[in-house]
Amino acid sequence: MIGRLNHVAIAVPDLDAAAARYRDMLGATVSPPRDETEHGVRVVFVELPNTKIELLHPLGEDSPIAGFLARNPSGGIHHMCFEVADIRAARDRLLARGARVLGDGEPKIGAHGKPVLFLHPKDFDGTLIELEEV
Ligand code: CO
Repeated sequence: MIGRLNHVAIAVPDLDAAAARYRDMLGATVSPPRDETEHGVRVVFVELPNTKIELLHPLGEDSPIAGFLARNPSGGIHHMCFEVADIRAARDRLLARGARVLGDGEPKIGAHGKPVLFLHPKDFDGTLIELEEV
């Protein structure tokens, strides 16, 4: 059911320093920082040949990243995003097999303008999983 790895999101305490490491040490193509106000994050996209890394930093008071960084002050992998062809069919399959979908279970428009859902990390070995319809 799941397809390509769309991105891995990493919460970082210092966005400029993290972007510089990917650009200068790892030699990756790195975007300028972008504020995604409605999602409470400032993001740098690291473009790789087969996927993307998203470096996430809190933006605003109620950022979903702030609590994660409070628990993980040096940063860490926040979630992975897998592509699916039909997000409602994917949700129904997961619910039928006992997985928990976060929120009200209805897909929301995510950071890339496409429908997304998040799955409970306790159902997936401690990893928050995002599904994105492509
Ligand atoms: Co994501």
